[in-house]
Amino acid sequence: MKKILSLILLSIVISFYSCGNKKTNKQPEQITIETNPEVKKEAPKNVEVSPEQTALIKKGQQLFKDKTCITCHLTDTKVVGPSVKDISRIYKEKDADIVAFLKSESDPIVDTNPGQVTIMKANLDSFVKNLKDDELQAIKAYMMSVK
Ligand code: HEC
Repeated sequence: MKKILSLILLSIVISFYSCGNKKTNKQPEQITIETNPEVKKEAPKNVEVSPEQTALIKKGQQLFKDKTCITCHLTDTKVVGPSVKDISRIYKEKDADIVAFLKSESDPIVDTNPGQVTIMKANLDSFVKNLKDDELQAIKAYMMSVK
């Protein structure tokens, strides 16, 4: 008998609490739970196309023209050098660093034909050497943004 009484008491207590929750807490709680993942989802997207990144890509695209890279590298057609699209794809696949290549710290991986390498090497040993670190980073950001 005591058991039954305490069980009844317990269920009353439980229903009282859950009722209280429904009235006060449940709704605001659900709203915060629902909005949080959305905020989290948006955050990485914003990181990818942050204003800083967009500005860097723009700067790189301008340098790519100003420094004559564009005369040998068109966006998606091979002319003298490989297209920017191909370079970007291969550097992504191999997880390689364009800045390292431009600083002559890593070997070519896109076109290893010796005649072709000599042409680009002539650039690396001349005007590319005068590019500052932030300019190289911008060029890399632009080239890697081309899909
Ligand atoms: C006179 C033509 C010419 C100009 C100008 C030129 N390139 Fe190249 N570039 C080439 C050729 C040819 C290759 C292919 C050989 C090679 O991959 O090393 C190449 C290859 C590359 C590669 C791929 C390297 C790899 O891993 O194979 C990158 C990155 C690159 N160039 C960036 C640039 C940038 C940035 C500029 C401007 C600062 C530039 N190039 C200017 C001809 C040129």
